[in-house]
Amino acid sequence: MIAPSILSADFANLAAELAAVPSADWIHVDVMDNHFVPNLTLGLPVVKSLLKVTDIPLDCHLMIADPDRWAIGYAEAGAYNVTVHVEAAADPVMLAKNLHAAGAKAGLSVKPGTPLEPHLETLKHYDTLLVMSVEPGFGGQSFMAEVLDKVRTARNLVDTGHLKLVVEIDGGINAETIEQAAEAGVDCFVAGSAVYDTTDPGKAVEALRLKAAE
Ligand code: DX5
Ligand code: ZN
Repeated sequence: MIAPSILSADFANLAAELAAVPSADWIHVDVMDNHFVPNLTLGLPVVKSLLKVTDIPLDCHLMIADPDRWAIGYAEAGAYNVTVHVEAAADPVMLAKNLHAAGAKAGLSVKPGTPLEPHLETLKHYDTLLVMSVEPGFGGQSFMAEVLDKVRTARNLVDTGHLKLVVEIDGGINAETIEQAAEAGVDCFVAGSAVYDTTDPGKAVEALRLKAAE
């Protein structure tokens, strides 16, 4: 699956930017609060507006403090998947249960320096594992291949039937890096600049899809 990240899109023309990637599997929406990460983007009102102009499932990546309080609103609004950071959540398991009760899928994200091992037990409560391959906060950064060990660990647990998870990667994915990520076992590739910093975002999505399948 390919999930274009609208962080690199034109914020004044979001409806058109979504229409430009009709074959996207998910639209990745980066919510930043200038507390958990040193950048500020958009929040629930914008997500509600996006839901009105697209049928593509919204994959909301909450890079915010206190997700235990805020995540539920995105689920109630109709986001398909709501991902919170393990570094920010006070009670990740309760949070996942609340997201499910509100009708959404639940995702857990780990920053590049956060090990997966201490959290393996909680993963069974989630539908998505979002492995960050850059420090969260900004688009256009370089891919950190060392996080692929976490992808391999998760892939293995899924393939051996221990977990049911979409393994997602976020940060620095482009036509070159997507191949190593695919090889490590990623199911869903988030790409911001590699899709929207091009003249034809729709074509860029398809080019990434082909590379991932190679
Ligand atoms: C970064 C965001 C990413 C960002 C990726 O904190 O979580 O989703 O949009 O951008 P690229 O693909 O340009 O690295
Ligand atoms: Zn993201």
